[in-house]
Amino acid sequence: AVTRRLDYAPPAFWIDSVELTFDLDPAKTRVLNRMRLRRNPDVPAQPLRLDGDELNLSRVMLAGQGCSFRMDGETLVLENLPEGNAPFELEIFTTCYPEKNSKLMGLFMSGGDFFTQCEAEGFRRITYFLDRPDVMATYTVTLRADKARYPVLLSNGNLTDEGELPDGRHFATWHDPHNKPSYLFALVAGKLVAREQRIATRSGSEHLLQVYVRPGDLDKTEHAMNSLIHSVLWDEARFGLPLDLERFMIVATSDFNAGAMENKGLNIFNTKYVLAKPSTATDGDYDAVESVIGHEYFHNWTGNRVTCRDWFQLSLKEGLTVFRDQEFSMDLAGTPSARAVKRIENVIDLRSAQFPEDAGPMAHPVRPDEYLEISNFYTTTIYEKGAEVVRMYQTLIGREGFRKGIDLYFQRHDGQAVTCDDFAQAMADANEGSDLARLLPQFKRWYSQAGTPVVKAQGRYDAAARTYTLTVSQSCPATPGQPRKEPFVIPVQMGLVGADGRDVPLQLDHWQQAVQGSHTVVLTEGETTLTFIHVDAEPVPSLLRGFSAPVELDIDLAPAQLMHLLAHDSDPFNRWEAGQQLALQTAIEKIESGADTALAQPLNDAHLQALRAVLRHPQLDAAFKALVLTLPDEDYIADQLDTVDPQRIHAVCEAMARQLATELRADWAWAYEQCHDTGAYTPDPVSSGKRSLAGLALHMLCLAAQQDGDAVWPGKAYQRVKDAGNMTDRLNALHALVYSGHELAGRALERFYTLFKDEPLALDKWFALQSHAPDRGGHILPAVRQLMKHPDFSLRNPNRARSVLSAFCHGNPAGFHRRDAAGYVFWADQVLALDAFNPQVAARLARAMDAWARLAEPYRAAARAAIERVAAHAGLSNDVREVVTRALTEQ
Ligand code: ARG
Ligand code: ZN
Repeated sequence: AVTRRLDYAPPAFWIDSVELTFDLDPAKTRVLNRMRLRRNPDVPAQPLRLDGDELNLSRVMLAGQGCSFRMDGETLVLENLPEGNAPFELEIFTTCYPEKNSKLMGLFMSGGDFFTQCEAEGFRRITYFLDRPDVMATYTVTLRADKARYPVLLSNGNLTDEGELPDGRHFATWHDPHNKPSYLFALVAGKLVAREQRIATRSGSEHLLQVYVRPGDLDKTEHAMNSLIHSVLWDEARFGLPLDLERFMIVATSDFNAGAMENKGLNIFNTKYVLAKPSTATDGDYDAVESVIGHEYFHNWTGNRVTCRDWFQLSLKEGLTVFRDQEFSMDLAGTPSARAVKRIENVIDLRSAQFPEDAGPMAHPVRPDEYLEISNFYTTTIYEKGAEVVRMYQTLIGREGFRKGIDLYFQRHDGQAVTCDDFAQAMADANEGSDLARLLPQFKRWYSQAGTPVVKAQGRYDAAARTYTLTVSQSCPATPGQPRKEPFVIPVQMGLVGADGRDVPLQLDHWQQAVQGSHTVVLTEGETTLTFIHVDAEPVPSLLRGFSAPVELDIDLAPAQLMHLLAHDSDPFNRWEAGQQLALQTAIEKIESGADTALAQPLNDAHLQALRAVLRHPQLDAAFKALVLTLPDEDYIADQLDTVDPQRIHAVCEAMARQLATELRADWAWAYEQCHDTGAYTPDPVSSGKRSLAGLALHMLCLAAQQDGDAVWPGKAYQRVKDAGNMTDRLNALHALVYSGHELAGRALERFYTLFKDEPLALDKWFALQSHAPDRGGHILPAVRQLMKHPDFSLRNPNRARSVLSAFCHGNPAGFHRRDAAGYVFWADQVLALDAFNPQVAARLARAMDAWARLAEPYRAAARAAIERVAAHAGLSNDVREVVTRALTEQ
């Protein structure tokens, strides 16, 4: 049944404390749950309804006596409870089957060890409970298990007791002093080892930090520990938020649906976001570990100390925490250029994933109004667009104002379960007189209206009057259930770039004096006209600097103007953006022309010159150069088109890349020589930037070599696959050979496999690289089928399944969208196969068809048929059903 935001009602009972005792056994685990409850005096008296899911109930006791109960579906209902508001004790005894738990929600096994995942609604798979975030209790947890097989027993909070039991078993008791909702409960039991570090924070408190992994992985935990230490220090320094626990633990598991989970004091992570050493992890992995460790740690305040009242408020914690982890990574990066690189990377992700989501059948507001399955709403809209909304607060009230708002938010709400409205109100109240406070009700439309707003701008220079007039209008496309939108509050950071490349002083006609550099215009109307005075010559407008709002900017700049920005803009984000827009204009023109001749030399000379100038630039950082020289991805281009022909897009992108490779060949060789040797591996921004540019250069050189049979560069790439000193260089070299389609690719792949067959995360890269290699004549789908027969492939392991299936269905448009529909048939088969045991992973894969309705024929009809086949399947999970029904109803 659909759950609606406006149906929220406070719980009829509160649970003050919980005592859980687990007898851990993979085949049958027994759970004794002793709770202290009381009626919520603010709610009319009613029966107690406890959530459950796939549990076996053995006994229910009320105040030590047997009592009557009934089942309503999976819900346990108790009707004859004592009247009045006095607390009472309820004891529930259940069993569950961890080794059969293939959904990886609740209590499950991974590598023979026990783990839990409770967010959003997994706790009800462990015991009967009021499994909703506004019910907060203190937890005392006793774990009992075989000592030899499960030497380590962990749960939230502090270890208060441990000891031996008969029959080779032992126990540990944990007490969490902080009240928490059930979704933050966790336990871990198994054969694990830990890297430990004691730290003292600036406020003088001492803490024990631990990173638990399987024996053999300890040499891959240094970066995680460093990232955790940085996180603790950063949150205290930047937001005044200290670690509130004596002990903070991170545990890694290789079977995990999501990236990681912020359980109080006991974060559980996908190994992908913990394990890193130079020989197995890339620079991208190092960055991801740092940001996810930060993310989960920052949840300790934004999420745990203050949590969500209901799941419609999910972005309250996720958007805010993504914003915080982005700021953390930027602060650690250090230099303005390295910060800009991080910002650009975040925007690339937003545009290639969130913009399409906002334009498709699953579009939903940052605070959704309804869901069938909450797991489907852990989306890029809730996370990344939510973070952009939080960023706009900071843009409107400044860094200091933002900090004041955060302070007030915790002053008011520490220990509570609250809403997005509460956050917005604290931000505004702490900043009286600000644009935000003045515009708050309108600003909050960012929470209620879905869709990516379009900001259309037009500039006109009047030489006689020395004025430059910008007419800026906003609109927002219809989204499911929301045909019409009201105007948003849109902060547009902007500047005007003069002929000399410098920002001209900005003075609006009603201002007393001019300002230097950028200015933030706050749009509130459908249309706004801005007249800048004392402008001596026609400038080039640079709008939406730093990507100051999550909107699509529609401004008709001539190629020469874009090249001017690419060469000079003082804002590095817009400098990069100018290059992207140049390439995008060309790509769209060539895609739409439809002619084969358009594929011959798509990029013109001036454009190539401009890119060469960036590549050869004496001052720019290598990381920034690599971003500018990377053409827009196929998903982002598809999102700009009304009708999508994936093969045509792919052909144009390949043609552009080939031309860029050949025409800049000498420059690529020069860049490679400059950057390819970074010495002993460290993941810092400067050396990782060099590796990134060297990797792109090698890819381009191999691509160029494919045009004329040159053997030198492919030979160098092959050599690098064999003897690179780190995974980044090695994988980039392998990528260069596979993506250029060179005959050495096969041998290089074999080599890589032999080196890493016992390293699951490296093997995931090996699978993914092959699944999302460029399709040439339809060879990828058969290759993918072959990969699935590989002895190391398993559909049951989410990382491995995604390394082949997501890499293909989401990451390889040209391989997936085949004229013969075989890609869609494959997709439907795999979604159904996955759904039989892991609906969350299945539903993610199902979303590969989100954009089907904008496909050109014959793709569109074939896609619809495949979706209909999935939708017609009996016994579909709510997860997949919601995705496919939305896909079919909205078009
Ligand atoms: N709260 C976790 C994190 O962002 C993610 C939990 C994912 N849960 C899910 N049902 N998809 O940090
Ligand atoms: Zn999160």
